[in-house]
Amino acid sequence: MHSYLSFFICLVLSVQVLAAPAPQPVRKSRSFQIERVKRSDYVAHGPVAIRKAFRKFGITPVDFSNISLKDFQPFDHQTFRVKSNQANVAEPDQTGAVSATSVQNDVEFVSPVSVGGQTVTLDFDTGSADMWLFNTELPTSATAGRDVYDPKKSTTYKKIEGGSFKISYGDSSSASGGLAQDVVDIGGAVVKEQVFGLPTSVSSSFISDTNSNGLVGLGFSSINTFQPGPQKTFFDNIAPSLEEPLFTARLRSDGVGEYEFGKIDHAKYTGNLVNISVDASSGFWQFDAGYFAVGSDPLQKVQQVSQAIADTGTSLMLVSPDVVSAYYKQVRHAAYSSGVSGWVYPCSSKLPSLTVALGDKYQATIPGSLVNFAEVGRNTTTGETVCYGGIQSNQGSSLQIFGDVFLKALFVVFDRRGPSLGFATPV
Ligand SMILES: *[C@@H]1O[C@H](CO)[C@@H](O)[C@H](O)[C@H]1NC(C)=O
Ligand SMILES: *[C@@H]1O[C@H](CO)[C@@H](O)[C@H](O)[C@H]1NC(C)=O
Ligand SMILES: *[C@@H]1O[C@H](CO)[C@@H](O)[C@H](O)[C@H]1NC(C)=O
Repeated sequence: MHSYLSFFICLVLSVQVLAAPAPQPVRKSRSFQIERVKRSDYVAHGPVAIRKAFRKFGITPVDFSNISLKDFQPFDHQTFRVKSNQANVAEPDQTGAVSATSVQNDVEFVSPVSVGGQTVTLDFDTGSADMWLFNTELPTSATAGRDVYDPKKSTTYKKIEGGSFKISYGDSSSASGGLAQDVVDIGGAVVKEQVFGLPTSVSSSFISDTNSNGLVGLGFSSINTFQPGPQKTFFDNIAPSLEEPLFTARLRSDGVGEYEFGKIDHAKYTGNLVNISVDASSGFWQFDAGYFAVGSDPLQKVQQVSQAIADTGTSLMLVSPDVVSAYYKQVRHAAYSSGVSGWVYPCSSKLPSLTVALGDKYQATIPGSLVNFAEVGRNTTTGETVCYGGIQSNQGSSLQIFGDVFLKALFVVFDRRGPSLGFATPV
């Protein structure tokens, strides 16, 4: 984590400011929502999901690095090849809601966003602060089958002279190119001059993820990596124009979920909505998660890494190594496999719930059904299908990454006031 951050801090150290005028959000006092629908013809791929998370946070797997299970045969990657590139995007309805697609059984969630009047399918990511898009300046081999942004077809596109961006990960995957601004419309809320990256080069790991045609970073603008200086995220630009400076996330497994900006829909949760404070100093939606319980066991203190971030752009929940060991101790025949960089278990094993304390006022319980992430291989002794856990180790890095496996269990409010996070039991 630290090397990843310091790398970006180096990138953004610059005294220059961009010549672009300040973006002007329009449409005061409104809210909008984006609906998400799940497709059923994809299969979640645990090893791909964890490699993506490791890349994003610069994590090198350290523990258990040479554990190869004798009786475990991972499925061939081909089994998981995604056959269709096109997200099943419905027309926006009259209230401005926009449907979107959960792909590969919740490996990621993508939403349609209009950029310069062109609809592109993007991944909303509270764990980063850059917006960038697949576009027609990339080689056609990188854009085949995608809905890509074509700056030439937009009358509102402007190139940002002297602006550039480069996203670079530990494993040398990268995306780089220039900066542009255009009208960005998410479900009817419009930022007229949103700055985003237009890569001219992307490495194969981005190309192989054909479901997402770019990211909308919803972390804090302080970690925006654009050069010669950080630019505001869509949320920071639109927040002053919203009824309330917040957005809510309701991610649903096997159902329709939504993001909603500008107001809290009280019909979406039951019981109390508990507001906990966020430490934004690292640019993430970070909070203390210092206690946990497995199943009906009593709460115990997290021994290694108690800070956590809420990250919609990571599919798994990466927890402190001591939490992951305590958890899988209660799962029959669970074992770590370095071949798939994660904990696996016979799919017939019963998974306990995991309770985590969020701040000192709220306890969230992730049911075992949400922890079961994907089928990953076969037990060569018994022939039984082996499953991949949605809870995995953060490999001792400085933060726990609470991704979609965690978020799907909750109704979550990302609130700039404080800043703070609100948590409640979803309806
Ligand atoms: C793991 O295996 C590699 C290569 O086989 C070896 O270089 C390394 O020392 C091993 N690590 C541990 C912790 O045993
Ligand atoms: C495979 O099955 C055997 C017998 O039940 C069990 O001991 C072993 O842990 C299983 N291995 C995996 C990877 O599930
Ligand atoms: C959460 O707490 C912050 C800081 O105290 C406050 O400004 C904000 O209004 C609260 N949010 C909600 C939804 O109550």
